[in-house]
Amino acid sequence: EKGGYDHFMLKEIHEQPKAITDTYRGRMLPIENRIKMSSIEDNLDKFLNANRIIIIACGTSWHAGLVGEYLFEDMARIPVEVEYASEFRYRNPIITNKDVVIAISQSGETADTLAAIKLAKSKGAFVYGVCNVVGSSIARETHSGAYTHAGPEIGVASTKAFTTQITVLTLIALKLGKANGSLAPHTFKNYIQKMQLIPRQVEELLNIDNHVKEIAAVYKDAKNCLYLGRGFNFPVALEGALKLKEISYIHAEGYPAAEMKHGPIALIDENMPIFVIATNKGHYEKVVSNIQEIKSRAGKIIAVVTEGDVQVKEIADHVIEIPDTEEALTPLLTTIPLQLLSYHIAVMLGKNVDQPRNLAKSVTVE
Ligand code: M6R
Repeated sequence: EKGGYDHFMLKEIHEQPKAITDTYRGRMLPIENRIKMSSIEDNLDKFLNANRIIIIACGTSWHAGLVGEYLFEDMARIPVEVEYASEFRYRNPIITNKDVVIAISQSGETADTLAAIKLAKSKGAFVYGVCNVVGSSIARETHSGAYTHAGPEIGVASTKAFTTQITVLTLIALKLGKANGSLAPHTFKNYIQKMQLIPRQVEELLNIDNHVKEIAAVYKDAKNCLYLGRGFNFPVALEGALKLKEISYIHAEGYPAAEMKHGPIALIDENMPIFVIATNKGHYEKVVSNIQEIKSRAGKIIAVVTEGDVQVKEIADHVIEIPDTEEALTPLLTTIPLQLLSYHIAVMLGKNVDQPRNLAKSVTVE
C-alpha cells in the first residue's frame, strides 16, 4: 500500500505532481482561458463585495492560508487576514455578514477549525471550505467550498495536502482577480500557462532527491535550524521549519528573512544551518544581503534558488535549484526540496516518519 516507497510520507511527496494536476483538472481551462469553479461562480457577489476575506486554519493548513493571503492580495486586491482557528474562536473576533471566511483543513475534522466556522456562521459570515476529505465535518458545516484532490494523506506530516491547498487558493485568487479586473487578461493567461507547467517542474525537483539527501546527511545532527523566506516564500519557510521539527524533533524556526536582524541573528554561529529561499524575482537582492550577513557570522547557508542563479551560488554552502516560474507560483516548487530534506533527516536519525511521537493525523480535540 506504500506503492514501493519506504514510508507514506515519501509516497505522498512523490504523488504531488498528480495531486496538483488532479486538483486543477476540470477547473483550470487553458484553451478557454478561464477558471471554472461553480462554488465561486455561485457566490461571486459575496467574494467580490466582501469587506475582507478571513482565512482560518491550523498547522500546515494555516501556512497554506498565509500563501493564500499573498495570492489574494496580489492577484485580486482583496484584503485578507489569516488566523489560527484556535485564536480566532476565543478572541471575540469582529465578523459581519460582509466578511467571507475561508476555512482550510486537510482532514476536515480539526476541532478548533470546526468551532471557528460555527462562530463565523453565527455572526452571519459566508463560510467557504477547502478540505481534502469528502463528506468530512468541515466540508458539511461550510456553506460552500472546493475540495483538494490530493487523495488520502496517511503520513502525519502534511505534504501533498499543502501543495493542493495552495493550488485551490491560486485558482480562486486568479478567478477573482479576473472577475474584478485586478488581473489584466494577458497576466491571467500567463499565470494559467505557468500553472500548467508546475506538475512537471515538481517532477523535476523530485528527481534531484539524491542531491537533497546529500545535504541532509551534512546537517542531520544539527540541534537548531533557521528557515528564512520573503513574500510568497515566507510561509514556505514556516512550513519547512514545521516539517523538520515534526518528524526529526530538531528545533527549527521559520522567519521572514528581513526579521533576522531583529533577533534571530543572535543565534547564528558555525553550528547553525540556515535554509534560505532566494528565488530570482522574490526581493532577490534583499535576500542576498541577508545571506551575506549570515555568512559573515559563519552560519551555514543552504539556499533554494532559481536555476541559473549566480550570486547566491557564490556565497552559499549548498544550493538547490528550482525551475523558473512566476514568483506567485514558486511556493509550489520551493516546498518540495524542504519536504524531502526533512524526510531524509528524520530517516537518517531513525525516527518514525509517518507517525511522529505525540502527534495525531487529525486533531479532533482542542
Ligand atoms: O487536517 P487539518 O489540515 O485541519 O490539520 C491541521 C494541522 O493539524 C496539520 O496541518 C498539522 O499541523 C500537520 N501535522 C502538519 O504536518
